[in-house]
Amino acid sequence: DAQSMWGGRFGAGPSAIMQEINSSIGVDKRLYREDIAGSKAHASMLAANGILTEADRDAIHKGLDQVQAEIEAGRMVWDDVLEDIHMHVESRLRQLIGDAGARLHTARSRNDQVATDFRLWTRAALDRMDAGLKALLTALVTQADKYADAVMPGFTHLQTAQPVTLGHHLMAYAEMLGRDRARLADCRARMNESPLGAAALAGTSFPIDRHMTAASLGFDRPMANSLDAVSARDFALEMLADLAIAGVHLSRLADEIVLWATAPFGFLKLSDAFSTGSSIMPQKRNPDAAELVRAKVGRMAGAFTGLLIVMKGLPLAYSKDMQEDKERVFKAVDDFELSLAAMTGMIDDLKPNLAAMKAAAGGGFSTATDIADWCVRVLNMPFRDAHHVTGTIVKIAEEKGITLDQLPLADMQKVDPRIDASIFDVLSVDASVSSRMSFGGTSPARVREAVAAFREKLQ
Ligand code: ARG
Repeated sequence: DAQSMWGGRFGAGPSAIMQEINSSIGVDKRLYREDIAGSKAHASMLAANGILTEADRDAIHKGLDQVQAEIEAGRMVWDDVLEDIHMHVESRLRQLIGDAGARLHTARSRNDQVATDFRLWTRAALDRMDAGLKALLTALVTQADKYADAVMPGFTHLQTAQPVTLGHHLMAYAEMLGRDRARLADCRARMNESPLGAAALAGTSFPIDRHMTAASLGFDRPMANSLDAVSARDFALEMLADLAIAGVHLSRLADEIVLWATAPFGFLKLSDAFSTGSSIMPQKRNPDAAELVRAKVGRMAGAFTGLLIVMKGLPLAYSKDMQEDKERVFKAVDDFELSLAAMTGMIDDLKPNLAAMKAAAGGGFSTATDIADWCVRVLNMPFRDAHHVTGTIVKIAEEKGITLDQLPLADMQKVDPRIDASIFDVLSVDASVSSRMSFGGTSPARVREAVAAFREKLQ
């Protein structure tokens, strides 16, 4: 029990409340694989450097394999008295192999051990989330390609602004999520250093080889400073900040799905797989998955600010405050992975109502800018004058209750007699989007180029 781990200088044991506030096993048992991998690497290194016999090393490896098998078979007995995963694994190992197990903790502390386990877990999580983001990006790019020329209204202030295409709109999210993926890759590259061998805080008097353990656990190098190695949690903060930002992107996309699925918008119908019914209103098809993805960003942002505040003002080196890092990180990663999976499902199933989108694209005098641009191009009008002329034309159409392409030429000529019938060429929403050929613009040709370029990056 814990007495045999650290109880040498204590008379009485801890109170029940002390055990309850101190125990982290309910949360950190998720680190069992990493803990066992770290212990095996440590034992091999100790033996390679004459600190442990080869027989002890072999016994430790075999014993740890058995502990892992017991945990995976659900046969491990979890007990708050043993505080955390590190003490549980070590305690069971000592029950199984005795003295050799008691030698494992030579030249090591739980402080470098937990930092190592947590980095290994975080690294694997970063790799899984990278794959999840890639799957979502693949879904987005596939739909963007399919709907490269599907016209819909583009908004500013959520007021109809100019026609865009659904493909262009989806590619905007691909760009955002592509940057999120790059941010997580940066985080992974920076965090992949080994704390193991920093021991409690100062290093150790044993002739250990930190480069060996770093390499065998897949780290790029050992961390350079033992105090930093056991104190740093910026790798977790960085990942949480990245998840909060990515969560904002998922939340904005989710919000648009909610909006587009409303009856007044009618841009899309949610698939049966990603909507739910109402227990009282039989007609309902609710966008619960999108709403929950929209909400989950609160958890990511909360995890980030929560851990930031735990870490703020902590003196070097380890303090027990830091034990509260893992719950937030585990939860944020779980939420993020689930959000990615739900969003990928919703995008895969996307069923847009192309007619409704196109009709809406023509509303709100959305091609007004095209009239102004025509006046500049054809009549050589300064843009500010063209803006004014167009405003007057919009006013007439508004008063008559018709769209710009329904307005008689005579009405436009009252505003400026030089306007001729060729202006009608730019008044359709299709003409409007096709003309937006500038790099990064919404013309279907540009969208298809953007899709191709993004696909290249996804390879
Ligand atoms: N359960 C602890 C944590 O997660 C492990 C490190 C404990 N170290 C210590 N000196 N008490 O932070």
